[in-house]
Amino acid sequence: DWTMQKFLEEAIAQIRQKVGEKGQVLAAVSGGVDSTVAAALMKEAIGSRFWAVLVNNGVMRLNECEQVHRDLSEALGINLTVIDASKEFLDGLKGIDDPEKKRKFIGGKFIDIFEAEAEKIEAAAASDPAKAGKIGFFMQGTLYPDVIESLSFKGPSATIKTHHNVGGLPARMTNGQGLQLIEPLRSLYKDEVRALGRALGIREELVMRHPFPGPGIAVRILGEVSPEKVEMARQADHIFISEIRKAGLYNQISQAYAALDPSRAVGVMGDKRVYGYIIVLRAVTTTDYMTAEAFNFPWEFLQRVMNRIVNEVHGVCRVVYDVTSKPPGTIELE
Ligand code: XMP
Repeated sequence: DWTMQKFLEEAIAQIRQKVGEKGQVLAAVSGGVDSTVAAALMKEAIGSRFWAVLVNNGVMRLNECEQVHRDLSEALGINLTVIDASKEFLDGLKGIDDPEKKRKFIGGKFIDIFEAEAEKIEAAAASDPAKAGKIGFFMQGTLYPDVIESLSFKGPSATIKTHHNVGGLPARMTNGQGLQLIEPLRSLYKDEVRALGRALGIREELVMRHPFPGPGIAVRILGEVSPEKVEMARQADHIFISEIRKAGLYNQISQAYAALDPSRAVGVMGDKRVYGYIIVLRAVTTTDYMTAEAFNFPWEFLQRVMNRIVNEVHGVCRVVYDVTSKPPGTIELE
């Protein structure tokens, strides 16, 4: 795509000019489309003077951290540090059943962990004679719609947005340390970010990935989170998404996931009466995520997913499909 090639060249030139010969840039990445494309662009522009950090918060999807490491570090050559803080997050989530409190805890803990790592990276960056510059910039994968939204005065999107990006930008990153913000995707819409991702050689499956909330599986378990519940939701989600991919439906759906309702339902397994958790499947189509419709799956598809989940996910005895539109429902269950 010619326009994207041109954009790419110009974006690289701009980044180099802004960052300078020795400047270094720090960012948090999630494995999502925006932060991955932005990170790949930074790497093209300034190589290992770009430092990416991925925090494993214990509520990511099956094998997600390993996959992000393969995609960013191995495939794209991005200078990536993965921090496994899953135990800290899961321990801290104990006893919290309010959705907003879960978000707040995860956002706050994320900032603590990220800042501690940033200090280590700053020390390493300053002492590397090959680079000999300090971290002067903080990169974010902000898109054009985010820019407009934060400029707009009120409206539901403004309040909704505040809890979307985990914690937002750590204050220290822009104030105390005097880090300058760098947002290389600021002028792009989502489909342009995807085109740019392709131009940067990012694999198609990643470029087309559904969005995933920062608080992850924690807001896909109704009420209190435990490692066992996360594991069940994770297994069920993996089955659901794999079947969606196999059926060739992934790109027709805007967002899909499996959630866990920890109420116990009665079931029969073999000839025994059992109590098991309920898995809620959710899949929606939307253009702006402000309104959405439930996806119309073929019946046989839902039966196949139900069969696999009750057979393969220990502790689950029911599977339901959420047909609620937004409004009145939201896309996430919490
Ligand atoms: P709702 O549930 O509000 O979701 O209809 C709209 C979109 O926002 C995502 N979402 C979040 N993303 N942190 C995030 O990073 C959050 O706390 C959060 N809550 C919802 C949701 O996945 C959907 O894409």
